[in-house]
Amino acid sequence: MIGFDIGTTRSKVATVDRSGKPVIVSNARGEQTTPSAVYVSTTDEILVGSDAREQGVVDPARYAANFKLDLGGVESLFADGPAFTPTDAVAAQIAVLKQDVEKSTGIQVTQAVATCPANFRDDAKQALLEAFKRNGIKVLRLIPEPTAAGYAYALDRGGSNSTFLIYDFGGGTFDVSIIRLEGSQFTVLSTEGIPTLGGNDISRCIESRVLDDVEAACGRRPCREDDGLFFLDLDQRIETAKISLGKQKEVPIVASFVGQQTIVKITQVEFHASIDSLIGQSLDATDRAIVAAGLTIDAIDRLVMVGGTSRLPHIQERVADHTGLVPRTDIDPDKAIAYGAALACVAEMDKNGQAATIHGQVIPAPELFVQDVTAHDVGCSALIHDGPKQRLVNAVIIPKNTAIPCQKTDHFYLESEEQTRAKVEILQGEGRANRDDCLVIGEIILDNLPTETVQSQRICVQYTIDANGMVTATATDKVSGISRTVSVDYKKGIHARQQPAAA
Ligand SMILES: Nc1ncnc2c1ncn2[C@@H]1O[C@H](COP(=O)(O)OP(=O)(O)OP(=O)(O)O)[C@@H](O)[C@H]1O
Ligand SMILES: [Mg+2]
Repeated sequence: MIGFDIGTTRSKVATVDRSGKPVIVSNARGEQTTPSAVYVSTTDEILVGSDAREQGVVDPARYAANFKLDLGGVESLFADGPAFTPTDAVAAQIAVLKQDVEKSTGIQVTQAVATCPANFRDDAKQALLEAFKRNGIKVLRLIPEPTAAGYAYALDRGGSNSTFLIYDFGGGTFDVSIIRLEGSQFTVLSTEGIPTLGGNDISRCIESRVLDDVEAACGRRPCREDDGLFFLDLDQRIETAKISLGKQKEVPIVASFVGQQTIVKITQVEFHASIDSLIGQSLDATDRAIVAAGLTIDAIDRLVMVGGTSRLPHIQERVADHTGLVPRTDIDPDKAIAYGAALACVAEMDKNGQAATIHGQVIPAPELFVQDVTAHDVGCSALIHDGPKQRLVNAVIIPKNTAIPCQKTDHFYLESEEQTRAKVEILQGEGRANRDDCLVIGEIILDNLPTETVQSQRICVQYTIDANGMVTATATDKVSGISRTVSVDYKKGIHARQQPAAA
């Protein structure tokens, strides 16, 4: 029973002890978190974590971090170096985490529960699952990070009937979930997220101030492409300064560039002013989640802060002012997500009729049943008349925040009576958004359709979303019975299974 929290900046692995309590598994260096970083040597040796960071200082061109955010996207992480995809990087990271866990616990890791940001797109989820698969690990369930944190929190100190808000400000992403706990039922009412907001953005505010001063002193502004070494050193200094600025009024940062040393003094007041708009974005998302849950702030009993960035006192103050609630950090913000994943792994194994054991002793399964929601509007491309113009938009079939697993069906017209071919594009994005602004996660082609003179809503589209939030779609022509189903697989392209024609 292992839970993996692959973070943008650092990864954590948890298991449960004999009493069923979650515990972090330290890596081979004794660290409780492993930097999400890889280094590929000229002999193709792959280093991960702190080992990678150390090598990266000497050879930044073969070093990569923050690759979680590129999952399902970017082809290679190295512009001039070896071909190495974000999936390769995450797989390498998991390989080392797995090896460390097996060494320290003696457990063979063949199955686990993993977490991902609440609104991770399907292509990123697929890539993450693929990285586990390459390591021989079956992911029993992929859980949104705030759900996992909420699950751990509820099991530890939930109280029987309460509603809580999980505010999860990590290194690369921000998520918020509203969760209702009623007896043994754990229901996610809504979830919202900003996949581009994290502690890295807070760091960038400090960075831009340092670069201004270095440019003024040295006559050239350092840039990441050309001055990799300078930035690897600066990133570490900013990381320390950011934490110090949580409590100190002023913090100096020493930057050495082109043989010149610049001491940049940053005040807490200035730091807070520079990050206020970022915090504002997180508060807006929090408000949206409360509205989507059909609640007002008075209905929230507890505000739980998770993710490393939530440790910043200024963030806690702003969230407290905004919500009128006391921010709780009584579950470790760094570990809560991995804890939840490990506990959910015991629950999933139990559901599958498999007892989780340590040295023959059975670990009690948590008696809390999770009901999660979808994080995106999922629909298909449809032509609508927008005044005199026509627009291809996302016609939503399963709206965001629908309880999963779920199945929904809608019916569509063909564009013309003579049409013998229909293309159904499966879209993930905002409802009624232009098709080009959405992610196309699959398509179904129905061929050899008979023409029909009477226009009818003959194309029936059915979507199923499983417990991991993954979509399967079926399109059926009601006139001929021609039907096809696709399950989305990005690596091999779209995998279509022809269903026998019903008529
Ligand atoms: N005391 C602190 N004050 C401010 N920021 C902190 C503090 N401790 C950690 N952080 C920041 O928290 C971030 C790491 O948090 P966490 O481990 O929750 O993120 P992650 O899991 O790597 O990212 P994500 O969940 O977004 O993928 C880093 O940006 C780090 O600088
Ligand atoms: Mg995280």
